[in-house]
Amino acid sequence: MIVRRSPQELERLRRSGLVVHEVLRSVAAAVRPGVSTWDLEEIAQRAIKERGATPAFRGYRGYPCVLCASVNDQVVHGIPTRKRILAAGDVVSLDCGVVLDGYYGDAAMTTVAGGEELLSPSLRRLLDATRESLAAAIEVARPGNYLGDISHAVQRHVEASGFSVVREFVGHGIGTHLHEEPQIPNFGAPGSGPKLREGMVLAIEPMVNQGSAEVRMMPDGWTAVTADGGYSAHFEHTVAITKDGPWILTQP
Ligand code: MF3
Ligand code: CO
Repeated sequence: MIVRRSPQELERLRRSGLVVHEVLRSVAAAVRPGVSTWDLEEIAQRAIKERGATPAFRGYRGYPCVLCASVNDQVVHGIPTRKRILAAGDVVSLDCGVVLDGYYGDAAMTTVAGGEELLSPSLRRLLDATRESLAAAIEVARPGNYLGDISHAVQRHVEASGFSVVREFVGHGIGTHLHEEPQIPNFGAPGSGPKLREGMVLAIEPMVNQGSAEVRMMPDGWTAVTADGGYSAHFEHTVAITKDGPWILTQP
């Protein structure tokens, strides 16, 4: 069952969504050469605490940190560590979730140590295509459309851009738990799956590889990396479906 949230619940989800946005903004502002991914974790911890929220990831199925920081060929769930010192041109995907007042928010973004200007044209297109695929998916997150329309919008844009969609990880419903129904694959047929209705809240999160879609798990049991060593990008927003269209809760 896909839970539908009342306007009062959406207001609470909005508050946690804005906290996630602010946390990610603080962390992203600190991404530069010489900084470790553990430094980013500490910034996230502080930013969450300062806003009276609780981390959503730490302890979730045993995940040890409040932030995921996935560098270059790491796709998702990179565990922050003092040993990973960022170098100029590193592509860093930041993913964070919080709970505030019992309601969850979840968002992710990909940024570059030293600035996007350092990227090759192909990598710049990878980041653009991933960002645009999320925007295309959000655009169709409206009452009367279908879940498959969201999945298809991501897949279509990513593949038309010459990149590939990761299959092993999906977006998800979100509300009083981090992961609720439905699962939201980043590939699928338009018009398929459940009909979207007012009050549904979805965390839509395309994970896009430069080369092949295939991923492998690192021995830490969390970090997913591309099988071919190509780079990967990840953008995520928590989005409410309203009668007036998509409401991006994790964006001011
Ligand atoms: N945004 C990811 C998700 O919603 C991050 C989860 S990391 C975990 O699945 F640690 F919480 F598992
Ligand atoms: Co998520």
